[in-house]
Amino acid sequence: MTTPAAAQLGLEYKPLEAPQLNDPFPFYARLRHEAPVTFAPAFQLWLVSRYADVQAALRDPKRFSSRDILRPPVDLPPEMLEYLKEAGYSPEYPLLGDDPPSHTRIRGLVGKAFSVASVAAMETRIREIARSYVDALLRAGPRADVVAGLSFPLPMHIITTLLGIPASDGEKLKGWCADENLFFVPHLPPEARMHSARGVAAFRHYLRAMVEERQKNPRPDDFLTSLIQARLEGERPLNLVELINLSSVIVFAGHETTTNLMSSALLYLLRHPTAWQELRANPAALPNAIDEVLRFDTPVVGMMRTATEDVELSSTQVPAGARLLLLFASANRDEAIFPEGAERLDIHRANANRHIGFGHGAHYCVGAQLAKLEMRIALEMLLERLPNPRLVPEKPVPYLPALIHRGPRQLWVEWDA
Ligand code: HEM
Repeated sequence: MTTPAAAQLGLEYKPLEAPQLNDPFPFYARLRHEAPVTFAPAFQLWLVSRYADVQAALRDPKRFSSRDILRPPVDLPPEMLEYLKEAGYSPEYPLLGDDPPSHTRIRGLVGKAFSVASVAAMETRIREIARSYVDALLRAGPRADVVAGLSFPLPMHIITTLLGIPASDGEKLKGWCADENLFFVPHLPPEARMHSARGVAAFRHYLRAMVEERQKNPRPDDFLTSLIQARLEGERPLNLVELINLSSVIVFAGHETTTNLMSSALLYLLRHPTAWQELRANPAALPNAIDEVLRFDTPVVGMMRTATEDVELSSTQVPAGARLLLLFASANRDEAIFPEGAERLDIHRANANRHIGFGHGAHYCVGAQLAKLEMRIALEMLLERLPNPRLVPEKPVPYLPALIHRGPRQLWVEWDA
């Protein structure tokens, strides 16, 4: 049996505009029930929405390859690709865009920098950085946009510290990442497409200068130096383009994701004041609450894979060469796995940690420990120091149109002076 195409059911994938932009979950629920694996022509992607199918694909890198993971779904014009190539851009990414066995070697190396022990060693520094932003927020209050004041600058500061670059470059890096996100928006007017290409080229020039400087001046106990000095497949070091692309993944993955989770956590905890009070009284419940927010409003909405042969998921045939978008955000609302009110936020949910918000299998998020620590530190500080916080009712909570990432762009909070 084959499920009907989504178009026949009046189910059109329009993630970049309202209502799906603000609340994609009713659409995902219909996909799961009516068209669990279906082709979205505007994006040239197969949408996979059930937990079991998403997990099966993540466990099977031979048939569901990551090789093309960051290739824009709708091809960029050749002259633009040429321009970008000259700047060091390539849609081939080590680690995130690789499959075992070559993935495994680089993963071991990057994994060391993000191991439980390495992350624990960063805790004091993360606390200092977090305190400086929370202090500034309190000074600026009793009303502030916590995205601009905390959930963006904190993860960005930490990732720039890890890469050994100035934290003051954070805004610039954020702008370039936004430009790169636009590569995933089909039918962008040529002017806007060119503007985003210029941003991506500037990002690559910046990363190239960073890598070349560190090649000349290696530093002790330095993450980037260790990547530069690593030898893959016996003797081969990562080449310049690979180092640039890997650094871009670290910048991207290291800030946007955590920013979005932090903002969403604040949004939902303030919408549920009893949850806020409970966590204030018992911060030990925070890790489960963080998992539940990751499940409930998953910041990495989905990731792509390419079918290396004809495959079947939920009785639907997907041809070899097809690109699939594995919708983590939908899988995490799947009633088959979360039968107790999957559409409800419950910070005490017993199996909240079964979410696949950090992915699953070989590519499981290498920064998960770091993200969880940043989240716990920031939320603990806010629970302790913000007196009687609440959302500012007249301020809307806007979402930026993006295919892969989701989170509030602004979040206005006020508290007692
Ligand atoms: C991989 C989510 C924070 C670095 C992933 C994947 C997901 C994810 C879903 C799997 C991608 C796939 O299967 O194709 C998140 C979320 C975060 C977060 C929700 C925050 C709440 C971080 C941080 C870093 C990081 C702080 C630090 C640099 C990476 C890297 C990979 C990855 C390098 C690729 C791993 C591999 O391919 O083996 N992340 N991430 N992430 N994440 Fe995260």
